[in-house]
Amino acid sequence: MPATCVIGLQWGDEAKGKIVDLLTEQHDVVVRYQGGSNAGHTVVTAGQTYKLSLIPSGIFRPHVQCVVATGVVVNPASLLDEIDGLTKRGVAVGKNLSVSDRAHVIFPWHIEEDRLLDRCADGEAIGTTMRGIGPCYRDKVGRSFAVRLGDMYRHDFRDRVDSIVAAKNRLLAGMDEQPGREPLNAAKIYAQYNGYAERLKPYVADTTAYLLDAVEAGRKLLFEGAQGSLLDVDHGTFPFVTSSNSSGVGVSAGSGVPGRYITKVIGIVKAYTTRVGGGPFPTEQDNAIGQHIRDVGNEYGTVTRRPRRCGWFDAVAARYTARLGGVDVLAVMLLDVLSELPELNICVAYELDGRRIDRFPSHVDDLRRVKPVYEAMPGWQQKITGVRQRADLPPKARAYLDRLSSLLGRPIEIVSVGPDREQTILA
Ligand code: IMP
Repeated sequence: MPATCVIGLQWGDEAKGKIVDLLTEQHDVVVRYQGGSNAGHTVVTAGQTYKLSLIPSGIFRPHVQCVVATGVVVNPASLLDEIDGLTKRGVAVGKNLSVSDRAHVIFPWHIEEDRLLDRCADGEAIGTTMRGIGPCYRDKVGRSFAVRLGDMYRHDFRDRVDSIVAAKNRLLAGMDEQPGREPLNAAKIYAQYNGYAERLKPYVADTTAYLLDAVEAGRKLLFEGAQGSLLDVDHGTFPFVTSSNSSGVGVSAGSGVPGRYITKVIGIVKAYTTRVGGGPFPTEQDNAIGQHIRDVGNEYGTVTRRPRRCGWFDAVAARYTARLGGVDVLAVMLLDVLSELPELNICVAYELDGRRIDRFPSHVDDLRRVKPVYEAMPGWQQKITGVRQRADLPPKARAYLDRLSSLLGRPIEIVSVGPDREQTILA
């Protein structure tokens, strides 16, 4: 009864979608368990590029059941757009997709709140994706204003929308510094969401029961993490994080499947580091090297198209998240992006107040103050996008991979040298 998890070990965008797509062949069920349409997954298959947000990448394999589990926050309009977009391109979406009736629903007020409250206590911007993710999770934990997908089919849905809209209008009016905001219209929102509910009905299910049945019956589950571990609300670079448990710890909470069923955790890293939005990033290269990585790696947000901040591989951060996630093996992505650089740096430790540390600081202010301690390695300066065997990589590229592996204390099982499914080196 193997269950495999794919977890990003950095600040997201580690190209997890490609690995999930590769692994789905050997699995029966693919599960998204946290996050929402803030995530962007790109899958390139048969020369076609697909961008997915909520729907698991397994949707391209007809034998695979795709599950959007309880811990995900669902914007019904985005989900329907994705379903329609896939259907138009000939990808079947029907019984092969189920969405948890316990998943919380994103409403227009969440998106407004994201716009009004994208700030830390000191005023610094978090830089969210403005998809209403944080406000929806806040309402889930707060309970009073929460709506779960299953609630949209209950007799009191209309009343619930009315009372939440009345309260939210008061709250939003109090928060907005620009007077004259048009209030939310409960009747309009109800009509819109009732329409969504009708269309989503065939997909809505008790996914917790389904997943427990599946795992107890020995079916093979693949858990697809969204974002990266450093954005985890509890263990990441708080408050510059997303609002869910995007590290390995989120799998059970978000899916309902006990951790004891998880037999393999694959930690995904880029060969360098990127980050979107605010917050400290010790190895950031706000210079020509960062720009080179951004250009070659096309480092622009899948969802927001924001340019990603780019920098050297941070082994202190990735070792921390590999341990946190109980990672067994690593997949190193986008190695080809580093091919032209004459010299590469790996951050092997930090210096904080003149002392060398190899622990990832728990407070964001300490992380801001650390200075990376770099180890320089020669670049290979050779094209590697056509390489399919580890032995055929230039020796300097192999040495770079070996160093990452020893710093993280885990073997590298997969190396990606291009976006296509075929551009992959398996151990
Ligand atoms: P939110 O998830 O929209 O609330 O955004 C919170 C932080 O997480 C911001 O810094 C976002 O840029 C970042 N973030 C959210 N989703 C992703 C993702 O899929 N990739 C990378 N960063 C993300």
